Amino acid sequence: MLKGLLKLIAGVVVLAVLAVGALYVYYFMILPRDIAPPELAVEITPERVARGEYLATAVFGCMYCHSERDWSLFGAPPVPGTLGKGGERFDKRVGVSGVLISANITPAGIGDWSDGEVYRAIVNGLHKDGYSLFPIMPFDVYLHLETEDVYSIIAYLRTLEPIEAEYSGRRMTRLMQFIANSRVLPADPWQVDQDDPLSRGEYMVIIAGCRFCHTPANERMQPYEDMRFGGGLGMRIPAGDTVYSANISPDPDTGIGNWTEAEFIARFKAYAGARIPVTETGFQTQHAWSEYAQLTEADLAAIYAYLMAQPPVSNAVSPAG
Ligand code: HEC
Ligand code: HEC
Repeated sequence: MLKGLLKLIAGVVVLAVLAVGALYVYYFMILPRDIAPPELAVEITPERVARGEYLATAVFGCMYCHSERDWSLFGAPPVPGTLGKGGERFDKRVGVSGVLISANITPAGIGDWSDGEVYRAIVNGLHKDGYSLFPIMPFDVYLHLETEDVYSIIAYLRTLEPIEAEYSGRRMTRLMQFIANSRVLPADPWQVDQDDPLSRGEYMVIIAGCRFCHTPANERMQPYEDMRFGGGLGMRIPAGDTVYSANISPDPDTGIGNWTEAEFIARFKAYAGARIPVTETGFQTQHAWSEYAQLTEADLAAIYAYLMAQPPVSNAVSPAG
């Protein structure tokens, strides 16, 4: 009787170990999904390079993450001469448990990657060597980029000044590896209606990360969906302080409901070419004011129209919390 019970328990334990083992193998060895780089030869035209520069700089933030940033200036604009060189570290200082370093995406860094491999890195999050990148590089939203926009960005990257720089010290914890592997998904490009400001606004607000940064989240970074655009998400800056995002929902008292379209546009344009020492503003931010100042008025108006069409969220926040 007792023997039978012990055998049963042993059997259950063996099964449990096997199940955990199988899950482990599945998540750490079988995933990430094996997505082949597409056969691709992106023609470099002046139109694509210009559009790619605009998207990579003013809209999607590629260049502020993939350059050295000057954290002594408000909004930490890129250090001149480092465009695309990478080297920004994401580690304990900004709340990342491992170490990630933004890559050199100038021709000296990814010049030997095929267009298909660069495409796959941007939209699927796979390195040329097949391992998954960590989604601080926001490929989990870039999978929705319009295909022509990705081609424009690739054309632009090919024209960057080559800068020799290599980085070592990348380190991922098991949990980070799990998260990275599970985010590798097939491309799912959106169809944007260029004549509809709401459609263009939604595309930019979601893929540029406005929604992510301006929605509060729990400690596992899951956003509170009923608080969309309500602000108050805390984020660390390398010096160690925490800055909290603003409420950009149309709530008139705690959000931007009282801002006119002209005021919204002016607020962004005020930072064009600005290099304001943090000692003057009294706080540092993660909102890339100098890059977003380069958004066209039409695109800012589309972003404004989309934000104003969202439900108001009452949530009083200031950059200090
Ligand atoms: C929030 C910061 C951030 C933004 C925005 C960002 N990246 Fe990245 N990117 C990174 C980091 C960090 C890595 C390295 C990730 C890793 O090692 O897992 C990376 C990796 C890459 C790689 C892989 C290169 C290599 O050698 O590993 C490419 C290509 C790339 N990014 C291109 C882009 C493009 C194009 C955009 C804009 C559409 C962009 N990135 C936006 C942070 C960012
Ligand atoms: C990396 C995170 C991040 C991203 C991405 C981001 N923001 Fe912000 N934003 C912040 C933080 C933090 C603040 C508060 C500190 C400050 O004013 O700079 C802020 C401030 C603002 C403000 C000022 C509001 C006020 O009441 O003064 C507006 C407007 C704004 N963001 C809109 C946007 C839009 C639109 C986008 C997308 C194009 C965007 N943000 C992308 C982090 C972000």
